[in-house]
Amino acid sequence: MKNFKGRTAVITGAGSGFGLEAARIAAREGMNVVLADVQQDALDNAAAEIVGMGVAVLPVRVDVSKAAEVEALGEATYQRFGAPHFVFNNAGVGAGGLIWEHTLKDWEWVIGVNLMGVAHGVRVFTPMMLEAAKKDPTYEGHIVNTASMAGLLNPPNMGVYNVTKNAVVSLSETLYQDLSLVTEQVSASVLCPFFVPTGITQSHRNRPDELTEKGAKPTRSQLIGQAMSDKAVGSGKVTAAQVAQLVFDAMRERRFYIYSHPKALASVQTRMEDILTPRNPSDPFAGKPEIGAQLRAALRAP
Ligand SMILES: NC(=O)c1ccc[n+]([C@@H]2O[C@H](COP(=O)([O-])OP(=O)(O)OC[C@H]3O[C@@H](n4cnc5c(N)ncnc54)[C@H](O)[C@@H]3O)[C@@H](O)[C@H]2O)c1
Repeated sequence: MKNFKGRTAVITGAGSGFGLEAARIAAREGMNVVLADVQQDALDNAAAEIVGMGVAVLPVRVDVSKAAEVEALGEATYQRFGAPHFVFNNAGVGAGGLIWEHTLKDWEWVIGVNLMGVAHGVRVFTPMMLEAAKKDPTYEGHIVNTASMAGLLNPPNMGVYNVTKNAVVSLSETLYQDLSLVTEQVSASVLCPFFVPTGITQSHRNRPDELTEKGAKPTRSQLIGQAMSDKAVGSGKVTAAQVAQLVFDAMRERRFYIYSHPKALASVQTRMEDILTPRNPSDPFAGKPEIGAQLRAALRAP
């Protein structure tokens, strides 16, 4: 998709981070913008800013893990603007720690937002886009799903997050292949960022009460995971605005894989070689043994 002007973008997680930056670019490109987010104040602020940029805006409070809410988002989008051209299934949350220490509610929350949120977006919007493509040979659409480098690697102590992001890569590759069976007019990409400063390490701010363990304290591995991700995300040098720009560049160039830190692909190569050799998974801290030693010591301390 080369032209965005006058077309429609639907962005989930639009209140912060990559979603908000993508909304800013969409508005600069002259698109109608549907902003979806679960956090009302962030959504209100984003809507006020994007309206101020002079484009048509539809803000919708949506919990992407809820099928009916994403269906209502689809309905509201269609009523106001017709089929969208750019759908960014981007809302996501982080949770770390040793994988066996997640509670049932941890699994339900993170899978609900990170995986089912994307599945609902694909289920609701793709048929609308294909119908628009059938009716109008000049129609073009693009779906971008946000995974992570954790969708191509399985770093330790990142628990269910890795599981959901690997699943989003799988969903997105399947979507790409399936779309190419039926049309040239609608395509898909997957965004795999490495650590970038955003609100992701404060994801618990939007955790619903019914998916929160009453009175549960984080485990040691979860506290360590939080501190490590605070540090890694906080010291990231690539900005969320740059990542959002990469998304638009990839749509223009019809590129599937979108990487914020191509150098991190060396670890993906090592993982692929582990699988193909086959040999056991390589030490993820081989390049920084002191970090691995610290993590092991902290987790094994009495
Ligand atoms: N920042 C990073 O380092 C990084 C790296 C890899 C992948 N990602 C992924 O990028 C995506 C965007 O995250 P970000 O880094 O911009 O973080 P962010 O916290 O700044 O933005 C995420 C947005 O999603 C919203 N959200 C959370 N739960 C929701 C729900 N149930 N329904 C609707 N909206 C919801 C939040 O309110 C927030 O506005 C996520 O999928 C995240 O996993 C981030």
